[in-house]
Amino acid sequence: MKKKLIVGNWKMNGSLAANQALLQALLAGMGQSACGVAVCVPAPYWAQAQVLLASGAIDLGAQDVSQHAVGAFTGEVSPAMLKEFGVRYAIVGHSERRQYHGETDAVVALKTQSALAAGITPIVCVGETLAEREAGKTEEVVKRQLAAVVHTNGHCISEIVLAYEPVWAIGTGLTATPEQAQQVHALLRAQLQAATSHADRIQILYGGSMNAGNAAQLLAQTDIDGGLVGGASLKAVDFLAIVSAAQ
Ligand code: 13P
Repeated sequence: MKKKLIVGNWKMNGSLAANQALLQALLAGMGQSACGVAVCVPAPYWAQAQVLLASGAIDLGAQDVSQHAVGAFTGEVSPAMLKEFGVRYAIVGHSERRQYHGETDAVVALKTQSALAAGITPIVCVGETLAEREAGKTEEVVKRQLAAVVHTNGHCISEIVLAYEPVWAIGTGLTATPEQAQQVHALLRAQLQAATSHADRIQILYGGSMNAGNAAQLLAQTDIDGGLVGGASLKAVDFLAIVSAAQ
């Protein structure tokens, strides 16, 4: 069986003091985890998190990465810079980046490529909006988003982590039912199977109002290999409960 992976996406939250308290509480409460655990912290805090997470029990992640390697790209952060701070994962194509920063499927595919080239594991996000779901377009949308990444990355696709995050479930308290999530995960898995013989080892995470109460049921689904957790990753007790639901 694939190891489960629980990833906290802190988004634009945190401070030196709050991060220290949260990370220390997570480390103290986690013990020996049978699943992978990572936190994606805002870039200015990587140096702090790298020191606090030196034991390796929790991996460090970024929330975005540049498609470019170096140069005149004001405000961008390259994958090589992530590497210098021990960052293992980078979220790519989160719906908030697609929505507020105009990231297209093509940009997301290039960011995936640039992360992979530097040895950073991209956590590629796909997901439909409420309007798209209501119009019966869920399958079409997530397939289109994943197809761009598959097309650009060829056989390296087996090195990604994929995350299904229905936009209507993010930060809203609305969660996809385990059956709704599994249905989309299964079709994403089938799409990966058509692209690589290693599709079964690709972790597909669910994200969208995952919490201590609903995690176990979601994680019990055949094709749900972990979670990408927003709000609940900011509270140690809640995040630890999700981690233990994944064991
Ligand atoms: P919430 O868990 O707050 O709904 O956020 C999910 C998310 O966007 C994780 O990337």
